[in-house]
Amino acid sequence: DQEKALEYVKSLIRPFPDFPQPGILFRDICPVLKDCNALRTVTDLITEHLQAKFLDIDAIVGLDARGFLFGPIVAMNLDKAFIPVRKTGKLPGPTIKVSSTKEYGKDVLEMQADAIEKGQKVIILDDLLATGGTLQAACQLVREAGGEVLECVLLVELEDLKGKDKVPAPCHSLVKF
Ligand code: PRP
Ligand code: ADE
Ligand code: MG
Repeated sequence: DQEKALEYVKSLIRPFPDFPQPGILFRDICPVLKDCNALRTVTDLITEHLQAKFLDIDAIVGLDARGFLFGPIVAMNLDKAFIPVRKTGKLPGPTIKVSSTKEYGKDVLEMQADAIEKGQKVIILDDLLATGGTLQAACQLVREAGGEVLECVLLVELEDLKGKDKVPAPCHSLVKF
């Protein structure tokens, strides 16, 4: 069943102390990608969650880089658009940018100015919620583009860091540490 499948996925996620810097316990999701049954479990469960909860989604917004590993699969399952948010300097044409702070650094996130049409309803998808700084910035980007964030969806949530408190949209995660 679903609970067993998620327990299995959780067991695959490996902790690496002091990566990428001292004091950080890095949760490595690569084994979930290596196991196609686990990848299918994760993307199917996210798809089913979104189908059950939301009647009209216009797009899945995925975050560079690890959000790109799951986002297009979910978007295809739902027959919806996939929109990439990238680290700055990668997207051509007019863009909008927001700076972000994460557990172990800072970024500038960027989206093409014409990616979202006014009033579109989107889901933001990423692999992991830590401090919430990345999702906070992504929500701001979507709103500046005229879109509405229905929910942020994560494979993993690091509950001790209370990232949800910082994110100005509901968050849904499959696996919690
Ligand atoms: C990681 C992770 C999330 C973010 C979460 O991205 O994939 O996007 O940190 O941290 P926060 O909740 O503290 O903001 P990172 O940019 O480190 O790596 P990636 O390019 O591999 O996604
Ligand atoms: N991104 C931010 N914090 C992280 C962590 N502890 N493990 C994996 N990815 C992360
Ligand atoms: Mg990331």
